[in-house]
Amino acid sequence: MGGSMRWGAAGCDLMHGLMKRTRHGDIARFDQWSGSYDRTPGQSFFRRIHRPVVEAICSRRAMPRRVVDIGCGTGRLLEKVLHRLPDAELVGVDPAEGMIAVASQRFTAEPRVRLEVAMAEHLPLADASVDVVTTTMSFHHWADQDAALREVARVLAPGGRFLLADVLGIGFFGRIMRSTGGRHGIGYRDAAELTRLLHDAGFSAWRRRHLFWPGVPIYLVEAHLAATP
Ligand SMILES: C[S@@+](CC[C@H](N)C(=O)[O-])C[C@H]1O[C@@H](n2cnc3c(N)ncnc32)[C@H](O)[C@@H]1O
Repeated sequence: MGGSMRWGAAGCDLMHGLMKRTRHGDIARFDQWSGSYDRTPGQSFFRRIHRPVVEAICSRRAMPRRVVDIGCGTGRLLEKVLHRLPDAELVGVDPAEGMIAVASQRFTAEPRVRLEVAMAEHLPLADASVDVVTTTMSFHHWADQDAALREVARVLAPGGRFLLADVLGIGFFGRIMRSTGGRHGIGYRDAAELTRLLHDAGFSAWRRRHLFWPGVPIYLVEAHLAATP
């Protein structure tokens, strides 16, 4: 099995507390969905989101040595990264135990991959220990985006990068999704909110790139920590 699935009693208590408070009960839904998640119609679209994220991870001359994917689901993004970064350690984090169980099957006997049942709001990782943090189509589910982004900044090394691919409440269709998206819409941040969240978490700069065609408000956000603390 690809790594530890446990991170201590205190962490579990905190995680279950946060899970109870989560806006949507989404985690339970993802847990139930995990067994069939990869066969669900529309997953090819998710794979298209993964591609530019993988390219962005590998876009620097100095390749990252440690990459963390938050809300990793069944581990498909990490699988692509594994082949592109032959020397890197990869960590997948997801609060849905079923998702981590499926990911564990994918990485059986792969010592470079570690998987953790954990939430973005409480990452089981040491300070300044990661070069790149990624997350795809998960951010809008996070119960406490403020706390989670502070965690992302905490675990990133100086100069580290955060790559966030998700629906944003930006542009005409983004605003529509935000207002009609029910429970999900709350998590679709507009540009001002995202700037505030990233700034408060300690990121020094960020830029966004629109993925796909204009009617689909999915963006890749790249945020940086200052190179000197
Ligand atoms: C739509 S799935 C995306 C999975 C994967 N990243 C992909 O691209 O296929 C969203 C994932 O976010 C996870 N998630 C929900 N709330 C979370 C939180 N607070 N912290 C981390 N992950 C969370 C869910 O369990 C689920 O696996």
